[in-house]
Formats: sequence, structure tokens, C-alpha cells
Amino acid sequence: MNINDALQKGIALCCGSETAKLDAQLLLCHVLNVNRTFLYTWPEQTISASQLTDYQALLQQRAQGKPIAHLLGYRDFWSFRLQVNDSTLIPRPETELLVEACLALPLPNNAVVLELGTGTGAVALALSTEQPNWQLDAVDLQPQAVQLAMHNRNTLGLNQVNIFQSDWFSAVGERTYHLIVSNPPYIDPDDPHLTQGDLRFEPRSALVAKQQGLAAIQLIIQQAKQYLKARGWLVFEHGFTQAEQVRKIFLANGYSNITTQQDYAKLDRITYAQYIPQINRFTADNAVS
Ligand SMILES: C[S@@+](CC[C@H](N)C(=O)[O-])C[C@H]1O[C@@H](n2cnc3c(N)ncnc32)[C@H](O)[C@@H]1O
Repeated sequence: MNINDALQKGIALCCGSETAKLDAQLLLCHVLNVNRTFLYTWPEQTISASQLTDYQALLQQRAQGKPIAHLLGYRDFWSFRLQVNDSTLIPRPETELLVEACLALPLPNNAVVLELGTGTGAVALALSTEQPNWQLDAVDLQPQAVQLAMHNRNTLGLNQVNIFQSDWFSAVGERTYHLIVSNPPYIDPDDPHLTQGDLRFEPRSALVAKQQGLAAIQLIIQQAKQYLKARGWLVFEHGFTQAEQVRKIFLANGYSNITTQQDYAKLDRITYAQYIPQINRFTADNAVS
């Protein structure tokens, strides 16, 4: 069988996917260890029997809905390639906006930064590539996700990123941060999207939160005040219907400069705010007199 025939066969098998042609191309490139240009340039080239067997096995899994990133074992994010597995979320393109939002904040050159729920390490590692002088801590609850993030950190040589297991702030200690960033689980447990697409193959620990998806965000907003330096920033990615609720929670907890940003599809996607502790007027007045 040649490359062109193999692609046609793959497209037919992946016909349930909205991206059948791309899926077939990516899987064939993976098996042949070539890039997509090669497929266009050499459509008549014959593929070996063992390559065909491997390709067919991947196509069958894709036809059952398994995410392309899980079949390839990686996903490109920001300027690098990350290993992925089923212990955490496959990094999404819109999460690059979370990185951009953090980089745009007025922060010192040697900022101390915490990422909560790092998963593959995508956000913390992207921040570290752009700001090598930032001191980054990144935590996740799931031990396998922590291992994965450490693997990605080591592969990228970003050894300055400190990755450890923690249930949100539980293992963070007494350190305080200029910036805390999180893309936490934010999908309501009853959301029908959980039974569709890639979400079916990603762990609920990475996706689901109680209180219409807001439980983790609420807890982090409340507890972060203990871990933010004065005038420090807390930045979230959240569901596109959740911005108003997130702003309300920030406001109820005394944060300032609350701002929502939209993604490229003009959907509310990121909300951040600043923690400016109020001077205790009674203490301040007493101190003067
Ligand atoms: C939506 S995923 C985000 C992963 C990655 N930061 C990204 O943007 O691609 C949420 C992550 O939060 C982690 N997580 C869930 N509950 C947690 C908790 N209580 N403490 C720390 N991490 C938690 C999950 O294991 C998962 O890796």
C-alpha cells in the first residue's frame, strides 16, 4: 500500500471525527516518522507491512474516540512539545492565553510564582521559558501528573521549576507569591460535554468541580489571600459562562482590579484580580497618635 492509499483508508476509518483528514495524516506521520510535507511530496511511496499494522491499530483507537494526543503521546504547547498521558488534561490552545495574561502583568524580574493544578506542567514551563528569572513552584494533587510534569521539565531543561504534590495550598508552606495562576477543574459534574470528544478520555480529577464547576475557584480565591504578597495577582482560566460568578467571588473576598479577558472566539476565558490588603484604620490611627 502507498501513502496516498493509506491516507484515504485512514480518512474513511476516522470519518466520525470532525478532523478525519488531519487525524489520518498525523497518525501516518507518527508511524512513518516523517512530517506532513513528506506525505504530500511522496504520495506514491510504499509503506511496509509493519508500518501498516501500526497505523491500522492507531486508526482503530481513533475511530473509538481516543484523543490524537494520547495516541501520539505528546501535544505541542507554546514553543515546545509536552509528553501527555491519561493522568491529566491534554493542554488546550486557549490556555496559551493564560500564559500571555500572566506575562502581561506588572511583575518584578525575579517574581515568585505558584501554579496550582499544573498537570503536564504546560503553564509553569511556558512561564519559565519566557521569564527564566522567575522562581516558579508548580503543584498537582495527582502523583502521576506530578511525575509527568517533572518529566516534561527535565526534558526541557527547565530545572529551576520546583514541582511537587499538593492538595492546592496544603504543601506550599509559608512562602508568599507575586503571582498565583491556575487552570483548575471547572466543569459541572452533570455537564453533558463530559460524555463527548476528548473529555471522555481525560480524568474527572482534571475536569470536574462541584458548585456548578466553581468549587475549586472559590476555595483558591479564599485561601490565596494567605499566600499572595501585598499587591500580588491571582489569575484563572475558567469556563466561558463563569466570568461573572468568578468576578463576584473575587469581589466578595476583597480583591481589587478584577478583570476578565476573552479568547480568540470572543468568549470570556480568563479572570484575574489583585490582592491589596486594607490597612487596619484603628491600628494605623493608634500608631500615629
Ligand atoms: C484543568 S487541569 C489543568 C492542567 C494544566 N495546568 C493545563 O492547563 O493544561 C486541572 C489540574 O488540576 C489538578 N487538580 C485537581 N484538584 C487538585 C487539587 N485539589 N490540588 C491540586 N491540583 C489539583 C488536576 O489533577 C489537573 O492536573
